Amino acid sequence: MNPKIGNLLYAGKAKDVYKTDDPKRVIVKFRDDITAGDGVKSEKMVKKGFYNSLISSKFFEVLENAGIKTQYIELIEPGYMLCKKLDMLPLEVITRNIAAGSLLKKFPFKTRQELNPPVIQMDYKNDEYHDPMLNDSITIALGLADQEQLDIIRDITLKINSVLKDFLLSKNILFPDFKIEYGFDSSGNIVLGDEISPDTCRFWDSKTCEVLDKDLFRKGDSGVMDAYVKVASLILSEKDIKKWKIEL
Ligand SMILES: Nc1ncnc2c1ncn2[C@@H]1O[C@H](COP(=O)(O)OP(=O)(O)OP(=O)(O)O)[C@@H](O)[C@H]1O
Ligand SMILES: [Mg+2]
Repeated sequence: MNPKIGNLLYAGKAKDVYKTDDPKRVIVKFRDDITAGDGVKSEKMVKKGFYNSLISSKFFEVLENAGIKTQYIELIEPGYMLCKKLDMLPLEVITRNIAAGSLLKKFPFKTRQELNPPVIQMDYKNDEYHDPMLNDSITIALGLADQEQLDIIRDITLKINSVLKDFLLSKNILFPDFKIEYGFDSSGNIVLGDEISPDTCRFWDSKTCEVLDKDLFRKGDSGVMDAYVKVASLILSEKDIKKWKIEL
């Protein structure tokens, strides 16, 4: 592999982060593991890492083209993404355009209620505490981020939402909600990291409302991988499909 993959820095629930020869760069390996419920439910899904890396790369490219700073450098090959090494903020930044999932369990929103302006929620990324919801005051008191950084994160997140929502709608996909993570690059800029994939977003077919994301796995439905492949087939260009010899 070029650049050469170095030692493992960190193994998460669905991805591994490896060193490279350049201390400012890492290789993120997208694995085939799929988990739900704080990792309680866990399985392997053949080629999930392959497709999620391609889907994530596409979204990072769309965002970079819209002037948003991301970790993305290049997809070395499906499954392996070359990224800027970030000092990650332990925040899960969730944006919602349509009420679904845990929002319906916690608050009296109606199923599929449109949320305009979008709702932004931040959870503390901490398995021991089961990722509790934060407010700015708690985030600042915990020393996770200051007010200025939180304001920057909200601004970038709204822009990301608007760019991806429009892009997806042009591909006949609705974007009810998504979770992203940020970190600091070597110059101290707040940069989008991690992944954007059916593991971390809700995607619905805009015509049929068919679910095309990890909710299928959470509910124990069949066809999880077929849905991920469908997202890839809808968003990837002919060029990507040829380049990576993707079988759709
Ligand atoms: N560009 C980056 N540089 C450094 N670390 C990153 C970068 N992007 C993502 N990460 C971190 O790498 C890990 C990715 O692995 P994965 O998503 O499988 O972990 P996770 O199970 O969500 O998280 P964790 O195990 O940390 O609770 C996460 O901890 C994420 O914050
Ligand atoms: Mg993760």
